[in-house]
Amino acid sequence: MSDAPVSLRDYEARAKLNLPHNNWDFIEAGAMDEATTRRNSSAFAALSLRPRLLRDVENRKLSTTVLGQEISFPVMVCPAGGHKIAHPEGELATARGAGMSNTLMMLSTSSHYPMEEVMAASSGPKWFQLYHRGYEVTEMLVHRAEEAGFKAIVLTVDTPVPSPKERDVHNHYENPYPLGNFRANSEYLEAMSGTDEAPNWRPAPTAPLTWKELDWLRGLTSLPLVLKGVRTAEDAHIAVENGVNGILVSTHGGRQIDQTMGAIEMLPEIVQASKGQAEVYLDSGVRRGSDVLKALALGARAVAVGRPLYWGLAVNGAEGVHGMLEVLRRELDHDLASCGQTDVENLEAGLINIPFGWGAGTTAP
Ligand SMILES: Cc1cc2nc3c(=O)[nH]c(=O)nc-3n(C[C@H](O)[C@H](O)[C@H](O)COP(=O)(O)O)c2cc1C
Repeated sequence: MSDAPVSLRDYEARAKLNLPHNNWDFIEAGAMDEATTRRNSSAFAALSLRPRLLRDVENRKLSTTVLGQEISFPVMVCPAGGHKIAHPEGELATARGAGMSNTLMMLSTSSHYPMEEVMAASSGPKWFQLYHRGYEVTEMLVHRAEEAGFKAIVLTVDTPVPSPKERDVHNHYENPYPLGNFRANSEYLEAMSGTDEAPNWRPAPTAPLTWKELDWLRGLTSLPLVLKGVRTAEDAHIAVENGVNGILVSTHGGRQIDQTMGAIEMLPEIVQASKGQAEVYLDSGVRRGSDVLKALALGARAVAVGRPLYWGLAVNGAEGVHGMLEVLRRELDHDLASCGQTDVENLEAGLINIPFGWGAGTTAP
């Protein structure tokens, strides 16, 4: 009998056994009381599915596109700093794992391997995640990403100030490996300090980007632009007015600001505000195929997973990432059929039961 992990929870439990305690804490941590991290999950659990029955669901289609890129199912890999803390092959293994599952990987500015090497590790589609830490360094990164073959720039917008996690402060955590994208550009390393989310995050040498500079960023490249971390209809509205191509609804896994809603709670208002002018994706708290289905039913085009990629790596490198993604594929396929659906791009309305009072509620005047 195989003892392969059956669920993402199995991957999590095994990763915990395999990883040094400080690395484990760094991956799992959320900001402050970690309330948003927990709420990412509890908000998913508050939604329930409304299965439709006695349908012909024999042929099911899980593939979709994101900004024109075909992916075999609507689950992608989040950008996340330094994967070597979970496996020596780091992002190279993650790229291979995502490639084996025919899905898209987003690569962090703060990867341990340089973007060119990660691009060469697999043929699967990739987007480059950008931390803006100064005009010169952003220009260098964006040009390199375009040259290397990344298909979009994902600008992370939810980190205007550092957010050291208390677990990491207690553990005196320091990321043990250098940032791969700066091997040949060590003059920028000081500016990038802490973008790997270790507690040594210092303020950027230039002010964080504002809406005013988005045109400048867009002028650097012909690649589409995705904003990661948008949390309100108001900002989604400005984003589409500014011609942004995609919005990744995210709480950063609850790692930046605590005491916000869970990502899935923010999704409906953002989908509504983006009026079909930008694709909307979601990360934060996705652990089951049913979570994927719930997000799609509420208007996300695809979702992404963050911590689970480290769990997959820690369990078995590239094979572990692939195995973790295949668990989600299997679960999504099961839930799709069980809900009487056959195509992730054409889900019918009424699939989700939303409890009264859930989500945005009222805002203070
Ligand atoms: C250890 C770790 C490092 C991360 N590093 C980055 C990063 O470099 N850039 C970024 O935009 N998001 C980063 N994230 C956030 C993820 O992209 C994503 O938003 C989050 O992990 C999703 O939540 P989940 O972990 O519940 O799936 C990081 C997350 C973790 C867990």
